[in-house]
Amino acid sequence: MPRWFRSRTARAVACALLCSVSQTAPAQPEKKQPENKTGAPTKGVSFINDVAPILKENCFACHDAKKKSGKYDMTTYEKIRAGGVNGDPVVPGKPDLSEFHELLVTAEQRRMPPRDKGEAVPKDKTAVIAQWIKEGAKLDAGLDPKADLVKELRVRWAPPVPPKVYPFAIIVNAVAFTPDNKQLVVGGHHELTVWDIATGKLTKRIYTRAERAYGLAFLPDGKLAVAGGRPGQEGDVRVYNIDAKGKVEDGVTILDGVNDKAVLLKHLFDVEDSVLCLAVTPDGKTLAAGGCDRAVRVFDLSEGLDKAKLVQTVENHADWVLGCALSADGKFLLTAGRDKTAKVWDVKGKESVVTFPEHQNIVYGVAVKADGSAGFSVGADKQLRTWKPNGEGKQVKNAGGHGDDVFKIVANPKQPLLATSSADKTVRLWNMETLAAGKSLAGLGDYVYTVAFSPDGELVVGGSYDGGVAVWKVKDGALVKAFNASPGLVTKEPEPKKK
Ligand code: HEC
Repeated sequence: MPRWFRSRTARAVACALLCSVSQTAPAQPEKKQPENKTGAPTKGVSFINDVAPILKENCFACHDAKKKSGKYDMTTYEKIRAGGVNGDPVVPGKPDLSEFHELLVTAEQRRMPPRDKGEAVPKDKTAVIAQWIKEGAKLDAGLDPKADLVKELRVRWAPPVPPKVYPFAIIVNAVAFTPDNKQLVVGGHHELTVWDIATGKLTKRIYTRAERAYGLAFLPDGKLAVAGGRPGQEGDVRVYNIDAKGKVEDGVTILDGVNDKAVLLKHLFDVEDSVLCLAVTPDGKTLAAGGCDRAVRVFDLSEGLDKAKLVQTVENHADWVLGCALSADGKFLLTAGRDKTAKVWDVKGKESVVTFPEHQNIVYGVAVKADGSAGFSVGADKQLRTWKPNGEGKQVKNAGGHGDDVFKIVANPKQPLLATSSADKTVRLWNMETLAAGKSLAGLGDYVYTVAFSPDGELVVGGSYDGGVAVWKVKDGALVKAFNASPGLVTKEPEPKKK
């Protein structure tokens, strides 16, 4: 992990880390251009595979359906050829006469991207565009000229196989206990990893399309719903059978959650950026998930996964939805927003019932008392606050204690307890009724992004920025196990902390 990435000054960083900064993980290796000796690509340039990715990276920021600089939208083949104010910029067969190519290589002021706005497109890429025009600027057979290129590229994108041994520590954004309370599922890099709590050993890897998991929730039948995505590219919620059969390598079971239909049971939905939070009612009948598109999608699963129904798309926040929770009856949906509010949506009545503004800073997480009588929220103001989901958005009580941003809050399924996780490297327990502070749990060495209780309510786990996972007993705060959840990572001496 590069140093710049570890800079921890700005408060805003936390959210950037949670949501949008790309990790230095081995990205999908770029498709190699066939090259001849002059460095120019040889014949057979594909528009969708070779040209469109270049346009997406270098042009769409200004030439998409929203921006249309020069009245030019480049997001479909048809629109590229229709051109902007000056008409079709492509002269098939003649790159030198095509503005579509000349604008990229010209020494004149009029270059694209505009000189004051960005670097020139690299030579090997302009050569691909030149070759494509030379070959007739054709569209790939079978591709609709009206097809949205961003969507086409997404569909064609294939996730990489996760590294066998991680060269970097994974950021733990999500962790959950298995239904038997004995193992942990942790979000990895394009995979979920499963660890035995007693031994701290890796037992299973489930490959996923999503680069990161942000929300994990077991359904009553033991299937695992996962919210996640690839920052800035795509987001999704999928449901896996992590008990499916797979091959075993060095004692670790490998499941292919990308292609194997016995593992990937359901693909609930896709969006264009990460899905950051997930909530499921204890009866498994209602599932809610939201994220960077500001929306929370609510699904009715009461007739089973196969008949999962999207019942509403709630757009109640002005910015990313960072956290969500459902009352046990599925009536109230609580959400945490980067817009500095927590909100309550009445799922049956389909209306916003409460806006809670007291944090006056980013709200990272929400929880709700099972019967829906109390809402809880945490955020960048370092506070835990409680209020009534069916009230007027007035605060009932607040509690400090964490020394830094509070990222996540969860309610214990069996006892009136809350757990919070914070940038101050601790997990804290709280009395749900009084907000009296319980134990402060140490053992992690970095921002604790995520926290979860075991289904039996007796254990609590925290997961941190540096790959750390620690499990404590709820009863006395004793540390049960701590390990790094980055498969095979050789942990070095801790880096000297820079101020
Ligand atoms: C930072 C914003 C920005 C980026 C990135 C950018 N453009 Fe432009 N483009 C503009 C603006 C603004 C105009 C209209 C004003 C002008 O002609 O200078 C324009 C105009 C054009 C036109 C002329 C359209 C017409 O009919 O008048 C073409 C062709 C074009 N761009 C191609 C590209 C290509 C190809 C890329 C990517 C390699 C690209 N642009 C990247 C801002 C951008």
